[in-house]
Amino acid sequence: MLWIKCCVVLLVFTYASHADPVCSVPDSGKASVTALVLNMAKSVGPCVTPNPSVLLALNLVDKTFDPATADLLVKQLKEDAVTKVSENLPFSSGKVALYALALRSSCCDITNIPYSKGNLNLVSLLENKTKEEIKSIEKEKKKPLTTFYQVALDVLALCVVNSHVAFQAGTTLANAVPSNPTSPDFSVDTAAVAVMGFTCVLGMDAAPTKTISSVKNALSVLINLMLNNQMSDGIIGNIYSTGLAAQALTAAQSYYTTTSWNCPLTIQKVLQEIPLGTFSLPIAAAQVLPFLQGMSYVNVKDKQCTVDNSPRITVEYTIVNNLVEENFKYTIQVEVLEGSTLLQVMQKAAQINPKEFSFSTTDSEWGVFVSSINNLAGNNNQRTYWQFFNETTPLQLGVSSYKPTNKEHILAIFSKF
Ligand SMILES: *[C@@H]1O[C@H](CO)[C@@H](O)[C@H](O)[C@H]1NC(C)=O
Ligand SMILES: *[C@@H]1O[C@H](CO)[C@@H](O)[C@H](O)[C@H]1NC(C)=O
Repeated sequence: MLWIKCCVVLLVFTYASHADPVCSVPDSGKASVTALVLNMAKSVGPCVTPNPSVLLALNLVDKTFDPATADLLVKQLKEDAVTKVSENLPFSSGKVALYALALRSSCCDITNIPYSKGNLNLVSLLENKTKEEIKSIEKEKKKPLTTFYQVALDVLALCVVNSHVAFQAGTTLANAVPSNPTSPDFSVDTAAVAVMGFTCVLGMDAAPTKTISSVKNALSVLINLMLNNQMSDGIIGNIYSTGLAAQALTAAQSYYTTTSWNCPLTIQKVLQEIPLGTFSLPIAAAQVLPFLQGMSYVNVKDKQCTVDNSPRITVEYTIVNNLVEENFKYTIQVEVLEGSTLLQVMQKAAQINPKEFSFSTTDSEWGVFVSSINNLAGNNNQRTYWQFFNETTPLQLGVSSYKPTNKEHILAIFSKF
């Protein structure tokens, strides 16, 4: 499918600012957190329904994990969103919001996801769905089409993608928050997501005064709701609402006296629950992990994504050994930036398929010398070495100097000298 390739446009990202966590995981708890990340990442697979919260968590976690996992999730989420839209399947506003947040956390261009029938603009879809929610709350029945939880996700995602509809949605949601919320409409989970959405909106440029005052008001009501739901063991609400609530209290720390939340106790309780398997469901791990890293969903907004439009080339790379047992021949297509060296092509191949394309090098006066590929090393006594060709012509330059051109076919052939 062609449209999948769109996200292959490499996007470079960095965090513009770092969260200043209210508290952090002590060294003794770090192994548990790593185990939780790995366990959650294991839930991702080719035949598993993709979970946007897992991608969000992976992208917020300050660790280098297997990038193939995130790539697979991005591909699956895009395919899933496109299927839902093109086949008119249910896709509620909150779900669109989560997909938008997750794909944005991977620096995808969510305004332009190409597919067979055109382009899917997930931001426009989210704006439209949110406007329907707003209409339902304001005009019809004082209730959203879905739930306030989903509307809170809408506000958060609209803000993260910098849509001005976030102001309208934020105001409507804020006005719907009762001064003393007790109803199931505003549980700790809903309050947590709304607090993240409101905190994000207050950080947007040019927020209308009306929005600011309504949102600040509702923000303080919902922060109090969460603080009042702190248990003596550090849980906020129940163990499963604790992750979102703690993310929210981390994000909104400039809007309350931080001493009114016993953050270290919450961390301690969560760490105790990890080995008990409490967060073994991917969604449970995904909600608690950003908090354990001192992050919240609001931090997705700080992630600076710059589109790298540098031209790319495709190089075909083949490794052949017909000289010694066991013979082998493998071919791979590699996409690299134009101007990359053959060494960079080989590194990319090894990254995509380490089993067959791993190699080792030694440095010599002549540049980098390839000593082995696919665990087969040249041997001076047997007068064997790895020789490089473009098609049939031996390369005159070393791998660290030679720059293949687009569609060039490079062969590494195990040879005798
Ligand atoms: C959102 O609504 C506008 C106006 O009705 C429409 O033109 C646009 O196609 C809609 N966007 C999506 C993604 O459905
Ligand atoms: C192989 O290299 C030669 C010499 O550098 C060049 O003229 C030729 O175009 C290359 N072949 C391919 C298929 O790129």
